[in-house]
Amino acid sequence: MEAKGLLLIVFHYVINIIILARVSGATVTATTCGSTRIVSQADADALSGCATVTGDIVLATNAAGNISLTGVEIVDGSITAESCLHVADTSPVVAIPYIFNGNYSDYTGNNCTGLASLAGPTLSSISQALNLSNLPGLTSVSFPKLTSVAGQVLLYGLPSLENLTVPHLASAESFHLVYAQELQRLDLNALRNVTGTFEIQTVGLTYNGGDDAFSISLDQAVSSFIIGGIPKVRGFQLVASYAGLVEVQGNGFLEFVYWLAGDYNRVGTLSVSGCGNLVLSSMAVDTFIVNDNTISELNLGGIQTIKTLRIQNNRQLINLDLPSIPPVLGFGLLPSWQNLEISGNPLLQSALIPYNNPPIQNLSSMIFTGPFDYTWFTKKFAVEKVWGQTLVASTDPGFNCSYLDKLRANGTLAGIYTCQGTTASMPASSSSTSAGHRLAASGICSWLWSP
Ligand SMILES: *[C@@H]1O[C@H](CO)[C@@H](O)[C@H](O)[C@H]1NC(C)=O
Ligand SMILES: *[C@@H]1O[C@H](CO)[C@@H](O)[C@H](O)[C@H]1NC(C)=O
Ligand SMILES: *[C@@H]1O[C@H](CO)[C@@H](O)[C@H](O)[C@H]1NC(C)=O
Ligand SMILES: *[C@@H]1O[C@H](CO)[C@@H](O)[C@H](O)[C@H]1NC(C)=O
Ligand SMILES: *[C@@H]1O[C@H](CO)[C@@H](O)[C@H](O)[C@H]1NC(C)=O
Ligand SMILES: *[C@@H]1O[C@H](CO)[C@@H](O)[C@H](O)[C@H]1NC(C)=O
Ligand SMILES: *[C@@H]1O[C@H](CO)[C@@H](O)[C@H](O)[C@H]1NC(C)=O
Ligand SMILES: *[C@@H]1O[C@H](CO)[C@@H](O)[C@H](O)[C@H]1NC(C)=O
Ligand SMILES: *[C@@H]1O[C@H](CO)[C@@H](O)[C@H](O)[C@H]1NC(C)=O
Repeated sequence: MEAKGLLLIVFHYVINIIILARVSGATVTATTCGSTRIVSQADADALSGCATVTGDIVLATNAAGNISLTGVEIVDGSITAESCLHVADTSPVVAIPYIFNGNYSDYTGNNCTGLASLAGPTLSSISQALNLSNLPGLTSVSFPKLTSVAGQVLLYGLPSLENLTVPHLASAESFHLVYAQELQRLDLNALRNVTGTFEIQTVGLTYNGGDDAFSISLDQAVSSFIIGGIPKVRGFQLVASYAGLVEVQGNGFLEFVYWLAGDYNRVGTLSVSGCGNLVLSSMAVDTFIVNDNTISELNLGGIQTIKTLRIQNNRQLINLDLPSIPPVLGFGLLPSWQNLEISGNPLLQSALIPYNNPPIQNLSSMIFTGPFDYTWFTKKFAVEKVWGQTLVASTDPGFNCSYLDKLRANGTLAGIYTCQGTTASMPASSSSTSAGHRLAASGICSWLWSP
């Protein structure tokens, strides 16, 4: 009797366990391996059996402390954190996404400091975005096995971030690290494929001396590469195949080394400021702006087909080698300049610009201001045609406009012409290309500007 009763009890107990297991088993597959909002480590632990999470992992604003997503290998979705900062409603400009600008008074808190740290020790890939932004308390992000983020990596407004560990990250649609002033070191040596934007701005990164400059080597084309707000970095090297935009704002002493490698050695816009040295491989550039650097020597000998070249306000620039005509290939690779500006470089003496530069032909604008002499136009550049603006202002006391006035008189300088402060505008009808051609060809002189 006693044994039978015991068996019955055991039987009921077993049945109950089976029923419970079925119910909870169904619950597990339905919620924990899908989209999950994480408030505590317990929520993260509930994912530990999910090698693949199909859905988004959202870190809640009240997910304080250290969260580790142990066990998760693939997130087929995104990992995002809810923001702890909002731009105050009174702010004149509401930026989207809200980007921490280093000044808390522009923001109203979301009554949280958010995460202290996030780790994914087993995570290898994310099929959408990794967005950890606007988290004032986040000190550490560690994904030691992460290789691929198919969407954007957005790390904006992380004023406490000390460690970002993504040593094997090879591919991301874009990579943004902005406002992370406590971040001292960063290893992105595995990163090879960023097709969108690569951006590092306003970070505490330090340079460790020797050859230990930051180096980013991208095998694939990158649409934009932007670095700025890096007060301590001494060297930054970029290797890329094609780049739409490369924008570098150095700190006054940054050495920027840029190797454009691959079959298509072209950059759309290359804009460099705040650099102490600039080293460029051979490349074709459409728009090249070198503004406000501490560079003393600038060698553009390997650069081809610059459409717009502006060398402005480089107060220590002494030596300038402009793109030259390749001796072997000859005329085929003449720089097809459209806008040429060399201005505000007070030490750039005319003697240090080499002779026999490519002819200035068919330009939209030509702006030269600074300490250059007469030979710039008689010997260094053969000025053949400027359709648009010509602005020339030399600080050399021996300079006069007589040669340029001749070019003005015979139709070579066809647009608005200003030499040493004297401006002469063309009648509107004469400044068009066809009118210029017709007048130059027929030798009609009635429209000539006379000094
Ligand atoms: C998070 O981890 C850090 C370092 O491991 C520790 O100092 C801190 O107390 C942890 N925070 C919480 C809320 O557990
Ligand atoms: C990233 O997260 C922030 C919240 O911190 C949000 O405002 C922003 O819209 C998100 N960006 C994207 C592209 O999801
Ligand atoms: C922060 O922003 C406030 C309001 O916009 C401004 O008054 C203040 O000067 C700023 N502080 C810093 C350090 O930029
Ligand atoms: C903000 O957090 C504090 C402390 O946790 C709480 O007392 C307060 O009610 C919260 N305020 C809002 C608006 O949620
Ligand atoms: C960052 O990494 C360093 C070196 O590994 C370590 O000493 C420090 O505690 C880490 N800081 C955080 C917030 O995890
Ligand atoms: C580079 O990443 C993009 C997605 O961002 C992907 O479509 C492409 O196949 C990757 N290319 C290589 C060579 O890995
Ligand atoms: C002159 O430049 C214009 C545009 O800047 C271009 O369309 C035209 O083809 C050029 N002409 C020659 C002869 O290079
Ligand atoms: C202008 O400068 C050139 C070269 O120094 C000189 O030969 C010429 O006589 C000067 N012309 C005038 C009008 O001063
Ligand atoms: C204009 O004058 C310059 C200098 O004398 C000369 O080299 C050029 O051939 C002239 N161009 C035309 C169209 O007459």
